[in-house]
Amino acid sequence: MKNFGMNRRTSICSLIAIAAGGLFPTVGRAAGDALPPVRAYRNPGCGCCEKWAGLMKEAGFAITMEDDNDLAGRKEKLGVPAELSGCHTALIAGYVIEGHVPPKDILRLLAEKPDALGLAVPGMPVGSPGMEAAEEADAYDVIQFARNGSQRVFARYT
Ligand code: CU
Ligand code: CU
Repeated sequence: MKNFGMNRRTSICSLIAIAAGGLFPTVGRAAGDALPPVRAYRNPGCGCCEKWAGLMKEAGFAITMEDDNDLAGRKEKLGVPAELSGCHTALIAGYVIEGHVPPKDILRLLAEKPDALGLAVPGMPVGSPGMEAAEEADAYDVIQFARNGSQRVFARYT
């Protein structure tokens, strides 16, 4: 798994969010299906977080995104392992969603309800939802993590 330094990615994140079109396929869902609300937190001004939130909306999630000046502290309190951290942190149905996790994996999480703390896409892989770009996409994994520290690959994108 590639894990990039956040500084470089954060600095290009807004540019990518502006430049990229809606290239990622949306997840189909029947109208009227009620999904649990999503509450998300980001570093103030990060544009790719908004892009991800937009894709979540398209997938049928009701999502609110708030600026958080102590996002690192929030992640720590929630139990997100430092090496899994991404640019935003969301809460849904008791799970933590860290970073650019594809909406369809969150739907699968809600359907399978594993005994886990949540899912993470560490860093900001190019090509993940909200990080679309013309350049070649990174391979990345969606990691399922538990409170006891255990981790497994939940989904793999190559
Ligand atoms: Cu991001
Ligand atoms: Cu973000």
